[in-house]
Amino acid sequence: MNERAKRVRLPPDTLLDVRELKVEFRLREGTVRAVNEVSFRVKRGKTLGIIGESGSGKSVTAQAMLRLTPAPGMISDGEIWLNRNPEDRDDIVNLADISATGELIRDIRWNDISMIFQEPMTSFSPVHSIEDQITEAMLLHIEKINRSGARQRAVELLTRVGIFNAEELVDAFPFQFSGGMRQRAMIAMALTCSPQLLIADEPTTALDVTIEAQILALIKELQAEYQMAVIFITHDIAVIGEVSDDVIVMYMGQIMEQGSVEQIFDNPLHPYTRALWRSIPTVDGTLERLQPIEGTIPGPFDEHAGCPFYSRCDSRVSGVCDKIPPPLVEVERGHQVRCILYEEDETHGTG
Ligand SMILES: Nc1ncnc2c1ncn2[C@@H]1O[C@H](COP(=O)(O)OP(=O)(O)OP(=O)(O)O)[C@@H](O)[C@H]1O
Ligand SMILES: [Mg+2]
Repeated sequence: MNERAKRVRLPPDTLLDVRELKVEFRLREGTVRAVNEVSFRVKRGKTLGIIGESGSGKSVTAQAMLRLTPAPGMISDGEIWLNRNPEDRDDIVNLADISATGELIRDIRWNDISMIFQEPMTSFSPVHSIEDQITEAMLLHIEKINRSGARQRAVELLTRVGIFNAEELVDAFPFQFSGGMRQRAMIAMALTCSPQLLIADEPTTALDVTIEAQILALIKELQAEYQMAVIFITHDIAVIGEVSDDVIVMYMGQIMEQGSVEQIFDNPLHPYTRALWRSIPTVDGTLERLQPIEGTIPGPFDEHAGCPFYSRCDSRVSGVCDKIPPPLVEVERGHQVRCILYEEDETHGTG
């Protein structure tokens, strides 16, 4: 472990500490700054909700935690500190600094951090049975487990996530499951190694609202049972309010506002957060999308000198917001907003 690592110590309640993370895609057309100086903490056993419109950098942030950034994307700066052992605060690793293909990250995936996706068909192989896929993860990552032990545990996990008759259904193929059942099976697979952190990237977007409510309730139950932290990614404000302890609001790769769920919901400050809150989608059918906020979303290659939200902001100050990058201002303890409207508060606040 390098010198730097020895000096970093996270507060005892902190599992993951992301500092000024940058992820870039350097393409021929230009550079996409998909994640641009993003910092946040995930507390043990708690849920961090990440909300933002399409393209704001939510998934790229999540992929970086597992070092799954697809080429030509790369972590170009920043740190991702993980405290793997709650009993030992010096057992700390900077995930941004290790090999993306090495043994350490392969050990951390599943065991410490696992991920579920919006559409489980993309994570399950269509040509292998559910049993094969869940037991494969176990055989690779759990010591001293044999094939029959792994099958037994797969059945237990499937039963636990609400798949009845799991003894039989464990032999089914993913396409034989309904969307809700596939998502349950995906959750079971993510839990095989009892991870400390579950990353759920829009896990319920493709499901209808009744099934969505069941899956959310299940994730919450399992979180309590396994004492897991969760990063929950969604563009759905209602869902974020229901599941989160802390919330970050992202736009164009940056955090616009962050705080506790109460701070963000009772006292939204950033013009972007306020616009999101005004655009709460109506429940009509299986898909809910945020109604777009007016104005033009800058292209991914656009370089902006000032605030990325400038072109759509109803409080913009021309000559300032389009010229100077807004600072992240702490307006009250734990509640930060990236906007010049609140800059004064910084000098008066308690910091
Ligand atoms: N493989 C890639 N190659 C090039 N650019 C990418 C790639 N993946 C993501 N990006 C860019 O990074 C930015 C953030 O994308 P990301 O997928 O994180 O958005 P998101 O917030 O998850 O959106 P959504 O709600 O649609 O899932 C976008 O501008 C996107 O075009
Ligand atoms: Mg995404």
